[in-house]
Amino acid sequence: MNPFDLHADVCDPGIYRAAVAHLRARGIALPRFSELADPGSMPDAWRRAAGAADRNAPDARNLFGVHWYNAPMQVGGHEVAAHVELPPALTGVPARIFVMLGRHFPMIRAHKVLAAYACLVPRLVTGSFDPVAHRAVWPSTGNYCRGGIAISRILGCRGVAVLPGGMSAERFNWLEKWVTDPADIVRTPGTESNVKEIYDACAEIARDPGNVILNQFAEFPNYLAHYAMTGSAAARLFEAHAGLTPGLRLAAFVAGTGSAGTLGAGDRLKEEHGARIVAMEPVECPTLLYNGFGEHNIQGIGDKHVPLIHNVTNTDVIAGVSDTASDDLALLFGSEAGRAYLAERRGLDGALIEALGAFGLSGIGNVLAAIKVARRLDLGPDDAIITVATDGAELYPSELAAHLARKGGRYDQIDAAEAFGRHLLGGDADHVLELDHRDRQRVFNLGYYTWVEQQGIPVEDFDRRRHQSFWKGLHGQLAVFDELITRMNRDVGVAAAA
Ligand SMILES: Cc1ncc(COP(=O)(O)O)c(C=O)c1O
Repeated sequence: MNPFDLHADVCDPGIYRAAVAHLRARGIALPRFSELADPGSMPDAWRRAAGAADRNAPDARNLFGVHWYNAPMQVGGHEVAAHVELPPALTGVPARIFVMLGRHFPMIRAHKVLAAYACLVPRLVTGSFDPVAHRAVWPSTGNYCRGGIAISRILGCRGVAVLPGGMSAERFNWLEKWVTDPADIVRTPGTESNVKEIYDACAEIARDPGNVILNQFAEFPNYLAHYAMTGSAAARLFEAHAGLTPGLRLAAFVAGTGSAGTLGAGDRLKEEHGARIVAMEPVECPTLLYNGFGEHNIQGIGDKHVPLIHNVTNTDVIAGVSDTASDDLALLFGSEAGRAYLAERRGLDGALIEALGAFGLSGIGNVLAAIKVARRLDLGPDDAIITVATDGAELYPSELAAHLARKGGRYDQIDAAEAFGRHLLGGDADHVLELDHRDRQRVFNLGYYTWVEQQGIPVEDFDRRRHQSFWKGLHGQLAVFDELITRMNRDVGVAAAA
């Protein structure tokens, strides 16, 4: 299926009827995109049901928990997404840096379950995916495919995870418990940046018409979900803090580039608050920065290509972060000696230290990118930067152990002080590129080789994405998805339960 064909109506009535019967037999209702953006707009019964579900089980009620408000916080009387504000004592810069926490999403403890829901549901409600006959194939570097398997289990369809064999052991442990058949975990060669190998495996899998590939790097609903849901959650967070600090500006939104779905939130924040959009990538694999390539350990990003759903020409800054820094800080935040150092020598409070220990590797990378951008742009206390920690530290104990082993197996406060001094206090603003028109075109053009030459996207479609009118035009599709979801719920017979 051409990813540019976003249907506005049912395209196969037979498949649609089969899907309706399947959901009816399971009593499954689907949340609308607007409800996941603003759970306050959900029918009370469904919101309560989501609250009562086992968050670690493939319980259909968890669909209504696929949003940013599972552990809400109050700021100035407003309910906002769970987040941590990082003080200058930690970051070394005066700008206000806020990190939204993806680990409160159900089932996979990462916000990628949102992308998975967003990619499958438009096909389900248009009769393009048959939950009985089709297999949903989820190519990923680990979190999106876990989200996909979780959504597949809930919908009672077969899901297949395709990911590099070198990803963290914790991702595989989770998958082994959740797949219905061990053959549904397909390990491709390499690690994080070997996405081409994932595409090759998917091309092979797609030869069977029963397999539907849900390629997050090319599925515009992934972009749209983050535009609508992550974008509105970040806007609400900023507005609540701005209410307490008059004059606060949203200087930037920072997100690592995996599929570039999360970066879609930046489009919304630029429209509403003038935020700069910052794409973070590993300096060990500097594809956007320098057309570069390489291996790295910031798991979930840096995939050696420019995703089809990346709105490149709206991106303002690229910030390169080293995986040495993210690995070192993961150890600083996650070790006893590191925590003692942060408390005793740096005077950071216990709740903050606890929160830092919960950031996954790409979340730490995003924080480092936010600090670099604050340095490069001389941001001050009236400037806010919002970023995300897509997942939490619980997905990386094996990576922490491996990094500790590389350091000789011991870690004390001197090691902690070295990491703090090198990566935080003494951090630089190197590998930060403020994009001008030519830079944007250069990065955009790089995508040609993957999408047109390799993956067969028509060059006219590829090129349409150069212009902002294309992306603005996409936004209207959100209301269309909602109408289709409403119709399917009605046909399933669950609308009345609301
Ligand atoms: C841990 C982690 N961080 C960051 C990302 C990047 O997010 P996105 O794919 O929305 O660009 C991913 C994507 O899988 C991820 O798993």
